[in-house]
Amino acid sequence: MNLIESIKEKAKAKNATIVLPEGTEERTVQAAGIISKEGIANVILLGKEEEVKNVAKTNNVDLSNVQIIFPENHAKFEEYANTLFELRKAKGMTLEDAKKLTKNSLYFGALMVKSGDASGMVAGAENTTGNVLRPALQIIKTEKGISSVSGAFIMIVPNSEYGEEGITIFADCAVNPVPTAEQMAENAFLSARTAKDLVGFEPKVAMLSFSSKGSAKHELVEKVANATQIAKERYPELIVDGELQADAALVPSVGTKKAPDSKVAGRANVLVFPDLQAGNIGYKLVERFAKGEAIGPILQGMAKPVNDLSRGCSVDDVVNTVAITALQS
Ligand code: ACO
Repeated sequence: MNLIESIKEKAKAKNATIVLPEGTEERTVQAAGIISKEGIANVILLGKEEEVKNVAKTNNVDLSNVQIIFPENHAKFEEYANTLFELRKAKGMTLEDAKKLTKNSLYFGALMVKSGDASGMVAGAENTTGNVLRPALQIIKTEKGISSVSGAFIMIVPNSEYGEEGITIFADCAVNPVPTAEQMAENAFLSARTAKDLVGFEPKVAMLSFSSKGSAKHELVEKVANATQIAKERYPELIVDGELQADAALVPSVGTKKAPDSKVAGRANVLVFPDLQAGNIGYKLVERFAKGEAIGPILQGMAKPVNDLSRGCSVDDVVNTVAITALQS
């Protein structure tokens, strides 16, 4: 069974309820039909019932087991608006602002998750990453002990000897444009957990740079070295090392040369990038040049799971992301 099939199987056992705020978006509606038919999760689509059903009809999708909610008419609308107001009043939000925002399905979805009425949320087929993340970060927030959410990809490269038989976790490729050393260290911990929980391998985390173990001197290198130190101190169980160049992290012969004492060099299966430009460019290059499959971004460190889709996503991408979200719940 391939990785995504096994994630789907594990997700079924969770019996999670996932809210999809983009309820009139075609791929989302098609995915909702597949998810409910295969029993991957219970699905809630947000939108006007008639509009959602019209999209379903046009696409020949059976939504008989899918719940459809129009935020403004929902019995808990006032309760959710109050929850948002309470959460954000210190930031200057009025009850009127909160009511207006609660009509926005991305906010409504996040409030459903916050209130325990859904186990997780998936959106992004028609909204930007920033617009999906903002309500999630403001309402659901981070899990206990974590200050910074990050976004990982499971990269699957066929016939590759790198990572774990061609499977490697890349992060952060989606959230923090310029992470601090502390944020990088948290990212290392969360990415290792993603590797263990979703893929099932023992993580060996490389903190990436353009330098290996002091071979170059620069403040950017120092940040990665500091992040490595923080990760080692804060998460003593974690197998992590840095700073390492990508070849030193992945290729045994280079790792032995550039970092002979390292437990990670030459055998890394989790790659932590020093900033979002490197991470985002890195995963897209591997996806295109190596014909890799990029599963994600998987948001790590939220108090409850929320995942973002690419606006270019396929129906399968939506199904797979819902399965991952269900499994994270
Ligand atoms: N972890 C936890 N909380 C966070 C994080 C984080 N990484 N980043 C921001 N927040 C919190 C802030 O503390 C703030 O909380 P508060 O309002 O309660 O104080 C709230 O989220 C909003 O943060 P801001 O920085 O004020 O808002 P911003 O609009 O800048 O949103 C966001 C943050 C959306 C994550 C932004 O950094 C962003 O757009 N990142 C890049 C996303 C992106 O474009 N990725 C690339 C495309 S994805 C892809 O290709 C796969």
